Amino acid sequence: MAWMPRRLETPRLILQPTGEGERSDPAGDALRERVGLPNQWRIVPKALDRVVGLVGFIRWEPDRRCAEIGFGLVQAASGQGLMTEACRAVIDYGFAEMGLSRIEARCQLANLASARVLEKIGMRREGTVRGRVHSKAPEEDFRLYAIERGGRHAADR
Ligand SMILES: CC(C)(COP(=O)(O)OP(=O)(O)OC[C@H]1O[C@@H](n2cnc3c(N)ncnc32)[C@H](O)[C@@H]1OP(=O)(O)O)[C@@H](O)C(=O)NCCC(=O)NCCS
Repeated sequence: MAWMPRRLETPRLILQPTGEGERSDPAGDALRERVGLPNQWRIVPKALDRVVGLVGFIRWEPDRRCAEIGFGLVQAASGQGLMTEACRAVIDYGFAEMGLSRIEARCQLANLASARVLEKIGMRREGTVRGRVHSKAPEEDFRLYAIERGGRHAADR
């Protein structure tokens, strides 16, 4: 399915779709190399006007109306609530404009900051799954988080 994300804006951030403009993206390239992230939106703080991270959907199953969010930020930009702000915008977009009814995320067991971001955006921990963070990574256990349209959780039904 052809899909082009659109530019998103939050109070502090521009989420710039990949391919928009021809700017150099060394921070994005380094992050993608390190954690195998998608590259649908570059995270650009308005105050800095340079790329500090990436956010997007690493898996999308239109038949199930389900997608998995993935993200990464350079160390220097962490701890300011920026990823929480970026993820909220992407999740809202997924429910409102991609027709999703469920968004999932996997989080390495030791990644407490990532788990906290997922909790702050309203996701709920559903269990533990085995997998790879990207195709070349070793298999390991991940916590599976999810949120459904309208902020509902599977366990509430
Ligand atoms: C994890 C990551 C996305 C967090 O981004 P961020 O912009 O710093 O996140 P926020 O500031 O929005 O929120 C981080 C939360 O985690 C908390 N936190 C940070 N380090 C923590 C730790 N070691 N233990 C527990 N909580 C921690 C912060 O206190 C904050 O919670 P609070 O607002 O309740 O105080 C970012 O550090 C990152 O990209 N890391 C590398 C790549 C990665 O891990 N990607 C995720 C793969 S699933």
